[in-house]
Amino acid sequence: MTASTPPGDSDGPRLGALPLADAGGVAARTRKVALRREILGLVRRYAEIDDSPAFVPGVSPVRYAGRVYDHEELTRLVDAALDFELTAGRYADELERGLAARFSARDALLVGSGSSANLIAIASLTSPALGERRLRPGDEVLTVAAGFPTTVTPILQHGLVPVFVDIDVPTYNVDVTRLREAVGPRTRAVMLAHTLGNPFDLDAVTALCREHGLWLVEDNCDANGSLWRGQRTGSFGDLSTLSFYPPHHMTTGEGGAVICKRSKLGKVARSFRDWGRDCWCPAGQDDTCGKRFGWELGALPCGYDHKYTYSHLGYNLKVTDLQAAIGVAQLAKVDGFGAARRANWAALRADLAPLEEWLILPEPTPGADPSWFGFMVLVREGAPFGRDALVRALEARKIQTRMLFGGNLLRQPAFVDYAEVRRAAGQGQPWRVVGELTQTDRVMQRGLWVGVYPGLQRVMRDAMVTAFHEAIAELLATAPAHRRAS
Ligand SMILES: Cc1ncc(COP(=O)(O)O)c(C=O)c1O
Repeated sequence: MTASTPPGDSDGPRLGALPLADAGGVAARTRKVALRREILGLVRRYAEIDDSPAFVPGVSPVRYAGRVYDHEELTRLVDAALDFELTAGRYADELERGLAARFSARDALLVGSGSSANLIAIASLTSPALGERRLRPGDEVLTVAAGFPTTVTPILQHGLVPVFVDIDVPTYNVDVTRLREAVGPRTRAVMLAHTLGNPFDLDAVTALCREHGLWLVEDNCDANGSLWRGQRTGSFGDLSTLSFYPPHHMTTGEGGAVICKRSKLGKVARSFRDWGRDCWCPAGQDDTCGKRFGWELGALPCGYDHKYTYSHLGYNLKVTDLQAAIGVAQLAKVDGFGAARRANWAALRADLAPLEEWLILPEPTPGADPSWFGFMVLVREGAPFGRDALVRALEARKIQTRMLFGGNLLRQPAFVDYAEVRRAAGQGQPWRVVGELTQTDRVMQRGLWVGVYPGLQRVMRDAMVTAFHEAIAELLATAPAHRRAS
């Protein structure tokens, strides 16, 4: 990415370019630049004061994730506040350019969340601009049910049919051996997340997509910085998505992005993000196409204002420059964060290895170098205790735990209700399931994960490891004798 100009050095008045009559304005602007420098200097000093409470093992919580930031984020945020651009501005441009470069993509657009990014990605594939390849109601999208709901809900929301395939343990990604048999006459796309940062088998999935002419959407929300055979995940799909919600690899608070391999998809995605409009003028600009009143589109009268011409049933999922300013600072750090995530994961893997008799520990997909989002464990069927008991014992020791999001999404109330409503309306089953979702159910019943985020310091990680060992020793000691023997 291009290096960001440090805030405060970016907007001095260009004195030579100003007419003499503007001398009063120059003085005011010079004063503002000086004040901005002073304010940002104070913000930096404020940010450098460390008032975080000391970590006390067993007393302080060990979080699964959290924001990691310093004066870089705060000064940029205040810099953007002083601009008072509010809607997308120079920071949004810089972040979109940086993201496109990071994923070797033609376009990247900021949106309000990872969920919005998934919504825009699927919506984009329904665009008439894609001609014969556009997705139409009833077309199928291959995916999994073990994961986050908004990887799947946009498929349903656009009248498409998700086709669910089981996953593999312990990579927690799609079982690629089942994927091929899932392809049917109406299969048009694959939409999959890289589970907890672990890339799915991109060799197998991209080969399948090539063979059957399928679109590939990578939900890269939990894997920003993961590598597949040395190449970044998020750069394989026609479209990929990112989340910038605080637990993720980089944050803007709320936020996300759609990465578009080709500029045509970028144009369509921007349209869906920006109300569905046909016009591509940046905010505040008119007539960049040079024929604002010269188009004849849809059934509108010839010359109808292009600014108010809509080629898609769109949304408004834009962001503010305040969010983007934080993102610019975070993007410069995301690979460093990834190194810390990898180190924490590797240390947990080594320190929890003595518990493998009771726990299945995670494995990267062969060929992957994951920038891990979390550390997933599964309580073995032979253990004399269950996942829920282990979760309670860990939480009692102040270790935050998480489930693999929705577990088996098809068992979630929203999905059960959706299917019931559809059936009651005589519309049949809204999805297809290929084979049994045995491993998906297994993960829902026996899985949990803990954090590896860059704010997880050694002392916290050690507390987590101690808690796992103590919790399991306690559970073994209190297990009924017959279960211990079995
Ligand atoms: C795989 C995956 N996709 C999408 C999302 C949604 O992101 P957001 O919370 O920014 O909407 C999440 C959320 O954590 C996620 O884990």
